[in-house]
Order: sequence, then structure tokens, then C-alpha cells
Amino acid sequence: LPPNFQEGGDVHLKRVDCRAKGGAPGFKVAILGAAGGIGQPLALLMKMNPLVSVLHLYDVVNAPGVTADVSHMDTGAVVRGFLGQPQLESALTGMDLVIIPAGVPRKPGMTRDDLFKINAGIVRTLCEGIAKCCPNAVVNLISNPVNSTVAVAAEVFKKAGTYDPKRLLGVTTLDVVRANTFVAEVLGLDPREVDVPVVGGHAGVTILPLLSQVKPPSSFSPGEVDYLTDRIQNGGTEVVEAKAGAGSATLSMAYAAAKFADACLRGLKGEAGVVECAFVASEVTELPFFATKVRLGRAGAEEVYQLGPLNEYERMGLEKAKKELAESIQKGIDFIRG
Ligand code: NAD
Ligand code: LMR
Repeated sequence: LPPNFQEGGDVHLKRVDCRAKGGAPGFKVAILGAAGGIGQPLALLMKMNPLVSVLHLYDVVNAPGVTADVSHMDTGAVVRGFLGQPQLESALTGMDLVIIPAGVPRKPGMTRDDLFKINAGIVRTLCEGIAKCCPNAVVNLISNPVNSTVAVAAEVFKKAGTYDPKRLLGVTTLDVVRANTFVAEVLGLDPREVDVPVVGGHAGVTILPLLSQVKPPSSFSPGEVDYLTDRIQNGGTEVVEAKAGAGSATLSMAYAAAKFADACLRGLKGEAGVVECAFVASEVTELPFFATKVRLGRAGAEEVYQLGPLNEYERMGLEKAKKELAESIQKGIDFIRG
């Protein structure tokens, strides 16, 4: 047994392989970077998800403590902890879904791209493990800069011969969560009633909210459009500055990651009509990766939706977004191809 999986001494513990509600087998989920600011609340939320039967928590530090803590929750998922590189393969073997929030976060004054040097290396190592131990798992990549790390992961999988573009998803859900919240404040609605598509990527001008496609259908003054676009594009920086050196968004991100992972699991289970925005391999633009709405199914991102009609403001935003995205994606590709 892996460490942190408590033995009962003389007492024989009978841990059941839990079944998700409705009798279907549950899914096996790993969180890589589980002891971090995102990883800990995300572990808590995934332990509460009735679709999860086994939860593996991997980190290079503090995994035993987080595992012991989360494992005491009386929900169905069996929790196991894994500490350090020698246990990476055990953490990954047999997983259906791997969520990656491993890596360093921003401090005030930094861009997400400033994290590339460290985080691209971390993502490479973790994805090499995935290619070897669970090549069919769906991967939810959170580590920044997402606009580059998704390309890093894709190149690692291509090199290993395991790349399935449908199963690699960059997580942009926090942009949608923020957009729903900020738009709801302007419209005076409950955020749960609001749906804002956010396309492009996950950094500054590459985050492109499509306010002309908000549901319920709404119109905004030019001042409101400027305010909302700026607030959504800089939501991450708003949190980084408020935390004043203590990191970036962790709690709202764990919520967003859990929401997106749940959508992926519902898709894997065969639920119809599961649609979320994500940064995926795409033919929607000339770029190899782009965030749009995707339909999640048994194979991962089974359908990538087109952008739909854009207004002039959004068309201009799209051009700016594509320019920056092209460079960020290429940086990720070059990191592996050399
Ligand atoms: P954190 O520093 O609190 O936690 C990161 C964790 O990763 C730490 O526990 C660390 O030990 C672990 N780690 C480092 N190297 C590792 C490795 N090789 N293998 C496994 N684990 C490793 O940071 P955080 O606030 O949790 O943020 C994590 C990442 O998520 C950052 O890159 C951040 O920019 C990004 N992020 C992305 C989004 C998004 O919307 N996609 C939102 C918020 C944060
Ligand atoms: C976010 O959007 O909150 C994350 O990408 C973290 C960051 O650096 O802003």
C-alpha cells in the first residue's frame, strides 16, 4: 500500500471500492500539486464529489498531512497520498482523470508568462508520468501559463505516442466563473442564472468574454462593455494584488476546477449535453489551441464549438488575442522540440 493509507494494526480495515450514486462505478481521480493553495481545497471538493471513488493526492511536499486530513471526511471516495517523484507512477496508475494545479503562482508585478521557466518543467515531468502510467486519462491542466503549458503537455504526449487531443484540456473555467459573477452584478441578476462564453486563452487580452452572447440575452452600454472586459481580463491580477505577495487565486480556482472536473466526469459517464469552455486543440481559428465552448463526453472534448457571431468590439479583441496566443503556444512547443 502507498504511504499515508492508514493500516488498522490488528484490526483489518475493509475499505469498499465505492460506487457512485445510481450504481455506476465511480471514477479514479488524481490531483498533482494537491498540497498547494489550489490543491488543498480542490482535494476537499473532489472528496465530496459522488462520482469519485478513488482520490489520489500527489505533491512533492506535505502530501501526507493533506491526505490524512481529507481522508477523514465521511464521503465515498477512498483517499491515498503520494509524496515525491518516486511515488508519481503509483499516484497515476489506473487514473481516469488527472487534475494538475502543480507549479508556482504569480506575485504582484509578474505576468503568467514569468512562471513559464519553472512551470513548463514541472508540467513536462508530470505529463511524462501520465503518458507512461495512464495514457488514456483525461487531463485538466491548471498550471500557468495555460496558454503555453497545454502546448508543452501536447508535445510530451506526442513524443510518447499517446497524444489524444480530446483528452487534454486547459482549464479556463475561472474566467467564465468571474465573467458570470461580474456580469450578474451589472445586470442585477443571480450569477447562477448568467452564462457568459469566454473564449481565446487564459492571460490578459487573450481572455475574450463574448458579451454579445450572454444568456439571458442582454445589452450593455459601451462603458459597461469596457468595464466588464477589463475586469474579466484582469480578474487574476485583482486577486494577486489583493493577496500582496501571498499568491494568486486559490479558493475561486478550486471551485472552478471542481466544477470543470465534475463536468468532465459527467461526460465520461455518458451524460448528454455537458458543455463548458476550455482551452483545447481546435480548428476554430488558425491557431492549434483555442478556448471555446466544448461538449464533454466519454472521449473527452468530443465537439469543439465555433465562436458564433461576434460584434466589431469582439472581432478586434479576437485579433489581439490571437497575436499573443500564437507566441505563447509556440513557446510551449519549442520548450519540448528545442
Ligand atoms: P501553490 O504554490 O500554493 O501550490 C503549488 C503546489 O505545487 C505546491 O504544493 C508545490 O509543492 C506543488 N509542486 C511544485 N512542483 C511540483 C511537482 N514537480 N510535482 C507536484 N507538485 C509540485 O500554488 P497555487 O496557488 O496552488 O497555484 C498553482 C498553479 O496554478 C500556478 O501556476 C498558478 O498560476 C496556477 N493557477 C491557474 C489558474 C487557472 O485559471 N488556470 C488559476 C489560479 C492559479
Ligand atoms: C487567475 O486567473 O487567477 C490565475 O491565472 C492566477 C493568476 O496568476 O492570475
